[in-house]
Amino acid sequence: MLIRDIDFGNNLILAPMAGVSDVGFRKVCSLFGASATYSEMLSCRAMLHNPKKTELMTIASPDEKIKIGQIFGHEPEIMAEAVKSPMLAKYQIIDINMGCPAPKIVKNGEGSALMKNLPLASRIISECVKASQVPISVKFRLGYNSDISLQFGRMCEEAGASYVTLHGRTTEQGYSGRADYEAIARLKASLKIPVVGNGDVVDDQSYKRMLETGVDGVMIGRGAQGRPWIFQELLGRRFEGSKFDVVRMHVEELKKYYDEAWLTLYMRKHFLWYASGVEGASEIRRELATSPSIDKSLDLLREILN
Ligand SMILES: Cc1cc2nc3c(=O)[nH]c(=O)nc-3n(C[C@H](O)[C@H](O)[C@H](O)COP(=O)(O)O)c2cc1C
Repeated sequence: MLIRDIDFGNNLILAPMAGVSDVGFRKVCSLFGASATYSEMLSCRAMLHNPKKTELMTIASPDEKIKIGQIFGHEPEIMAEAVKSPMLAKYQIIDINMGCPAPKIVKNGEGSALMKNLPLASRIISECVKASQVPISVKFRLGYNSDISLQFGRMCEEAGASYVTLHGRTTEQGYSGRADYEAIARLKASLKIPVVGNGDVVDDQSYKRMLETGVDGVMIGRGAQGRPWIFQELLGRRFEGSKFDVVRMHVEELKKYYDEAWLTLYMRKHFLWYASGVEGASEIRRELATSPSIDKSLDLLREILN
């Protein structure tokens, strides 16, 4: 995928996942071949009024290739101001979140609530495009409660988005059901700008099905949880290295920025994902869920992953 002069190299992109796609996770996914990584979603208002908190969320690793900053908000002027913030200077692309279904976001008219207000969504995109030196992309769902993805995608294109990402579910669906790849194919066929397909890519088979839609890029979220090597595997190389070393690298990167107490709680979900699917490890998984320290968790994981 080529966006202006930004060459993605391959078509595999790590999805933005608030509370999951931390800098350590993005680092290991990048080393396994993810061509681009998204920040966790950044509030435009917070960026302008509470920069300290947001700054911590923009920490990036030199191993990340194309860095994409994802923003959210509902006020075109504030969002256009935020786009110019030095805090976003490290990003080669800025993505606007128009797909988040979380109630606290939707009730502010942000995230996927914008799929119910196309004039406002259009104004946000065009103001951000005008204010930004770098390409602006938009990530959205099929619609709020029905599929309006064609109409919404065309609006994004007309407003100046450089590419769009479609997660093939409505807001009301949340994460239930299956992502609609036919809708993704229809959107790809009807836009001139590149389209990234997203939803339920977890293995070779689903990746192949997604490629059949004709999309320019494939975004992977949950399929990479506990399996950052999925990128390498989809690129055709089996991962035969040490999974434990990957976990350790993930943790080491985070230790540079976060204190041990916070990390111990934060990493539990990642550790459980790394341990999932390991046969006979149910007792260790139980211990991981309540482990009192990072070192203890790493000892447990060393036992089952090596
Ligand atoms: C824990 C979690 C957090 C997420 N946070 C964001 C986010 O901050 N911004 C966003 O655009 N999408 C977010 N998403 C949606 C994913 O980017 C992606 O669209 C969705 O998970 C479907 O892709 P998948 O089937 O590959 O996981 C999140 C998903 C999960 C599971």
